[in-house]
Amino acid sequence: MTATLKQASGPQYTRILAYGAARGENAVPNDDLIGPIDSSDEWIRQRTGIVTRVRADKETDAVDLAAIAGAEAIEKSGIPASDIDLVIVATISNPRQSPSVSAIVADRVGANPAAAYDMNAACAGYAYAIAQADALIRSGAAHYALVIGAEKLSDVVDPTDRSISFLLGDGAGAAVVGPSETPGIAPAVWGSDGSKSEVVAMNGTLTQFRDGEVPWPTLRQEGPAVFRWAVWEMAKVAREALDVAGIEASDLAAFIPHQANMRIIDEFAKQLKLPETTVIARDIETTGNTSAASIPLASHRLMAEHPELSGGLALQIGFGAGLVFAAQVVVLP
Ligand SMILES: CC(C)(COP(=O)(O)OP(=O)(O)OC[C@H]1O[C@@H](n2cnc3c(N)ncnc32)[C@H](O)[C@@H]1OP(=O)(O)O)[C@@H](O)C(=O)NCCC(=O)NCCS
Repeated sequence: MTATLKQASGPQYTRILAYGAARGENAVPNDDLIGPIDSSDEWIRQRTGIVTRVRADKETDAVDLAAIAGAEAIEKSGIPASDIDLVIVATISNPRQSPSVSAIVADRVGANPAAAYDMNAACAGYAYAIAQADALIRSGAAHYALVIGAEKLSDVVDPTDRSISFLLGDGAGAAVVGPSETPGIAPAVWGSDGSKSEVVAMNGTLTQFRDGEVPWPTLRQEGPAVFRWAVWEMAKVAREALDVAGIEASDLAAFIPHQANMRIIDEFAKQLKLPETTVIARDIETTGNTSAASIPLASHRLMAEHPELSGGLALQIGFGAGLVFAAQVVVLP
C-alpha cells in the first residue's frame, strides 16, 4: 500500500503587519526632463499630477532599495527577521537576471534561508505578491512573508521618449504579511490581457541589443490606450474587488491605486463614488510612477501621514505591462 503524504495547513487568516519604504535619493523636478522631450512643467503637472519624481544614484540598485525597505518593514512588524520564511520581490527593472533580487535581499535582511523568488507582474506585481503571500501562508507553505516591490526604472528610460520617460521613478516598498485572528487580506481580483502586450513594453530584447540591432532597450507605451484601459476596465476590477471582499466603497478608509497618473486616480475616485471620508493615496505627485513599488510606497506614506487609518480598510489596485492587473481589499496595519 502507498504511504499517505502529510499535508501542511496554515492559519485561517493573514494580514499586513507593517510597511517599509526606500525612495531614490534624488528629487528630479519636471524642468530637469522637459528639454529632450519638448514638454513643459505645466504640461506634465496638468496631464499627470507629477511635480517631482524620485530617482536613485547611479551606484544604488533595486537590490539596495529593496533591502532598505524590507529591513524597515521587518523592524516595524516586531517579527524577528529569522521568522520570515518567504521573500517575494516584484520587479521588472533588475538589469541582472540572475541571481534574483529576492535571494540577496533575504540574506541582507537576516531572513536567510527563506524561500525567495522574483516575479514580473509590472505595476500589478505588489498586489500579485500580496495575493501569493496570503495564499502561501494560509496553505501552510510559509509562516511570515516579506513582500517587496522594487524598481530602478531610471535604468530603462530613454530621456528623449515623450511617451513615458517623465513618469517613472525609482524606489522600493515592502510589507510583512503574517497570520491573523481576523480576515486582513480579501481575495484578489486578478488577471491579464496578453492581446495588448505591446501597449506598454520594452522596445527591444537583450539579444537584439547584443547584436547591435537596437539601442539599450527602454520602456515605451501607447499612453492614451493605456489610459483608457485603466480608466474603464480597472474601475470594473476595483468594484469587483469590493464585491468579493463583501464591502461597499463607503466602508473604505483608504484607496491606494497604482500611482500611474493623477487623472486616472481622480477618475477611479469618481467612478467608485468614494465618499469624502476615504483618504486617497496621491504619492505620485512627488514620487512619480515606480511600477511594482508604487502601491507599497504610497501605503507607507499614507500610514505616516494618517496614522489614524490603522485598522481601517484599504482598496489597492495595480495594473500595467502585460497587460496585467490585481486588486484586493486589505486591513491597514
Ligand atoms: C502618457 C500620458 C500622460 C499622456 O497624456 P495624454 O493626455 O494621454 O496625452 P496624449 O498622448 O493624448 O497627447 C495630448 C497632446 O500632448 C502632446 N504630448 C504628448 N506627450 C507629451 C509630453 N511628454 N510633453 C508635452 N506634450 C506631449 C501630444 O502631442 C498631444 O498634442 P496635440 O493635442 O497637439 O496632438 C497619459 O496617456 C497616461 O498617463 N497614460 C497612462 C499611463 C499608465 O497608466 N501607464 C501604466 C503603465 S505603468
